[in-house]
Amino acid sequence: MDKTSVTAAHRLTSALVTSLLAAFLTAGTADAALVDVPSPDNYVRRSLARATVLNNHVYIEGGQIVQMEDGFRGIRGRVENQVNSTLSIPLNESWKSESVTIKATPKPFTSLSRNNWYLWTDPKEGVFYAWGGYWPFGQEMVTDEVYKFTADDQGGGEWGVETLANGVRLDQLNPGEAGAFTSTGTMGIVIGGQSTPWTQLGRDNTRQLSGMVTFDFESKAMMNGTQRFSPFGDTPVVGASAEYISGIGENGIVMVFGGHVGRTDKEIPIGEMDFFDMRNITFFDPVTKEAWSQVTTGDIPPSPRIGFCTAAFSTKEGGHEVFIFGGENKRDTLVYEDAYVLSLPGFVWTKLPTPPGGERMYHTCVAVGNRQVLSVGGRETEDEGQKPDKIPQGLLLFDMTELKWKLEYDANAAVYKSASSIKDWYKQR
Ligand SMILES: *[C@@H]1O[C@H](CO)[C@@H](O)[C@H](O)[C@H]1NC(C)=O
Ligand SMILES: *[C@@H]1O[C@H](CO)[C@@H](O)[C@H](O)[C@H]1NC(C)=O
Ligand SMILES: *[C@@H]1O[C@H](CO)[C@@H](O)[C@H](O)[C@H]1NC(C)=O
Ligand SMILES: *[C@@H]1O[C@H](CO)[C@@H](O)[C@H](O)[C@H]1NC(C)=O
Repeated sequence: MDKTSVTAAHRLTSALVTSLLAAFLTAGTADAALVDVPSPDNYVRRSLARATVLNNHVYIEGGQIVQMEDGFRGIRGRVENQVNSTLSIPLNESWKSESVTIKATPKPFTSLSRNNWYLWTDPKEGVFYAWGGYWPFGQEMVTDEVYKFTADDQGGGEWGVETLANGVRLDQLNPGEAGAFTSTGTMGIVIGGQSTPWTQLGRDNTRQLSGMVTFDFESKAMMNGTQRFSPFGDTPVVGASAEYISGIGENGIVMVFGGHVGRTDKEIPIGEMDFFDMRNITFFDPVTKEAWSQVTTGDIPPSPRIGFCTAAFSTKEGGHEVFIFGGENKRDTLVYEDAYVLSLPGFVWTKLPTPPGGERMYHTCVAVGNRQVLSVGGRETEDEGQKPDKIPQGLLLFDMTELKWKLEYDANAAVYKSASSIKDWYKQR
């Protein structure tokens, strides 16, 4: 090597060292950019989001994302981990959890970065409405609105603020979280919940709510009522989950699962509240508001239970099955690692194979592709989602006919038929 090439080689090396050093100094500094959709390798955990299906896409709204930053797990606060985009995954093509691309559409207002939204879906109009939810630490809160997301057919869409008609005014309601919400095709419903300083601007206490709020998709009127309106009358309910099942009676029914009996007089820990046993299921006609309860049989899921997810399926033969998965027991401070289906009209529970990926709470589930459940995100422990999810991108699927957990979505799955173990139960009777 002659002298000039040595110098050149030296210059090259020092340039390399300088750029490596620069990269090293930037790595891990507090202003490294966070993203709403980290690469599958950088994914740690998503939680407290909600999902719904519109125009052949799953939309994932709100919640928090913990991610790897430059090879290290980012120890960030809840506010920094808030997801700021509306996410979507296509359902017209098959995909694998480890590699599916999640599309992110930025939101026009930061007030939309919340946890545990109530989402009401109107598939006919291709829109969902978002109300309630909470801002971590009550930061950047705004006055209450019902927001409307109009989906396009590419997995994106537009946000706006809905103008309400007649009914109760928003300033007469206590926006909350942890209510049982569902949509019937013509209206959105939320039963109970709790209002806290993180859900309602200017509020200084936490109280569970009695009553049921309805939002009419056509008239845009909101209502709230207790006796002869909510299936629980004036009993406050927190942490329950609701599923609408069409094809039962004239108006379909709404079934309500789990949760606790809240308090409107004082603040007590949820784990110390009475609870609703999964053995006794309450359901009601969303139009007439007539309510019933039914004692179930089979593998009854342990109670108390909150922070679990549900999804409903109907067969051509007129049977219906509701899937429930995970959640937490705040009385005994444990997180569930289980899943069940409740089959109608028999009101019998069947325990499903143990879900992969460990205990799971504060995830969200949707029925997709005829007979599959897609579970999105969730936490294993009370650690703000720092423990890496063993499920790639937190996307876990369950095939309701095969009764199998999967890490891929099948866009061509056959129509839903009850699993053979459920059919056998009906045959024996
Ligand atoms: C969302 O926006 C907030 C406010 O700008 C920011 O602190 C946070 O880090 C963002 N979230 C993500 C995941 O980038
Ligand atoms: C699925 O829909 C997207 C539009 O959202 C389209 O670009 C793509 O070609 C479709 N795939 C199939 C297999 O139809
Ligand atoms: C609905 O009405 C009940 C009874 O008046 C009230 O306690 C509750 O706070 C109301 N719900 C909401 C969400 O404002
Ligand atoms: C079931 O729950 C309902 C509503 O909470 C209650 O009225 C009914 O008495 C309960 N039935 C049984 C058998 O516990």
